[in-house]
Amino acid sequence: AKLIVVTREGEEREIEGQAGFSVMEVIRDGGIDEILALCGGCCSCATCHVHVDPAFADKLPPIGPDEDDLLDSTSDRDAFSRLSCQLPFGPAFDGMRVRIAAED
Ligand code: FES
Repeated sequence: AKLIVVTREGEEREIEGQAGFSVMEVIRDGGIDEILALCGGCCSCATCHVHVDPAFADKLPPIGPDEDDLLDSTSDRDAFSRLSCQLPFGPAFDGMRVRIAAED
């Protein structure tokens, strides 16, 4: 399935992602180094913050309490903010576009 990633410079990159990985892992393994993912995906750093595609927002799992707290600590939160390590990827998300959030 394809994931479209918009970098902080506004460049669009299309990445082929495997089911069973998180959106954070797909972005990182796709060679985009703007996602630091310092905590390795255990929902404790917020350096994997992205803005998700409004067209797919309803299909994603709801925001958990830890994720919500961490997003509150970021400067670039909006209605489509998510921590990409908490988002599954797979065929159901083919063509989803995510924009990497501003660095805090
Ligand atoms: Fe740390 Fe997502 S990688 S919160």
